[in-house]
Amino acid sequence: MARIVGGVTTSHIPAIGNAMTNNLEQTPYWKRFFDGYEPVKEWLADVDPDIAIVIYNDHGLNFFLNQVPAIALGCADQYHNADEGWGLQTLASFEGDAQFSWHLAESLIRQEFDIATCQEMLVDHGFIVPMALMWRHLPEWPVKGIPLAINTVQHPIPRASRLLKLGYGLRKAIESYPEDLKVVIFGTGGMSHQLQGERAGIIDVEYDLKCMDAVINDPEWLANQTIDEIIRKAGTEGVETIMWLAMRGALHPTVNVVHKHYHAPISNTGAGVLVLENPA
Ligand code: DHB
Ligand code: FE
Repeated sequence: MARIVGGVTTSHIPAIGNAMTNNLEQTPYWKRFFDGYEPVKEWLADVDPDIAIVIYNDHGLNFFLNQVPAIALGCADQYHNADEGWGLQTLASFEGDAQFSWHLAESLIRQEFDIATCQEMLVDHGFIVPMALMWRHLPEWPVKGIPLAINTVQHPIPRASRLLKLGYGLRKAIESYPEDLKVVIFGTGGMSHQLQGERAGIIDVEYDLKCMDAVINDPEWLANQTIDEIIRKAGTEGVETIMWLAMRGALHPTVNVVHKHYHAPISNTGAGVLVLENPA
């Protein structure tokens, strides 16, 4: 049977991709941030997953404002990446697993999560920057990737509580797949940031740290907040942190905290990373 080994949540800021392209990891601005990913890389090398399900938000690359599904699952054998305007280098395409994706779609829809299924899907920095942070393997990636895109860009945005439940559903879906696969779940986005309007530039370190603890030990604390409440604390783009709840929901109720790291600011954002492991 397919097994969820654990999950990683991380911010997905485009500037991280450009810092890697320009080899800036050891410079004073970036060093502490990138050092925070060394334990993540070690853990991934150790567990050696076959598939990464990447829960992220599209930023107008695959879905523009004229067509915005609330939840969209990639059901393809290959995903190309592209830059929607940040000047990011295009990296190697991702191998998917359409058969596994269709199993997830069948199971989720039977569980009343009426997701959109996409047999073609371009993935943007929300997907590719975290992958590049974890595995800078080029021209090939060491895992297959499955994109699960959640709308956090255009209102109405799915509730935080819905994403925690989506995680529960995802767990059932994965664990009912007959093939022996090791699956890792990524939740990308957040933490607090706002890129536009009067409050552009806000970061709430205290709220971010509370969210990190809540995702580990008390996900209901974040799940019970409305989208408006989260935006008031974390900013219009800080609402991306709800993706972390979908990752958490897919894991066991009690998890091992392998790694936790926070650094602010990176670009305009409070940057957090968690590695949570399922009990064996
Ligand atoms: C930034 C953060 C994001 O999550 C994003 O999608 C784009 C930009 C930033 O901090 O610059
Ligand atoms: Fe984003």
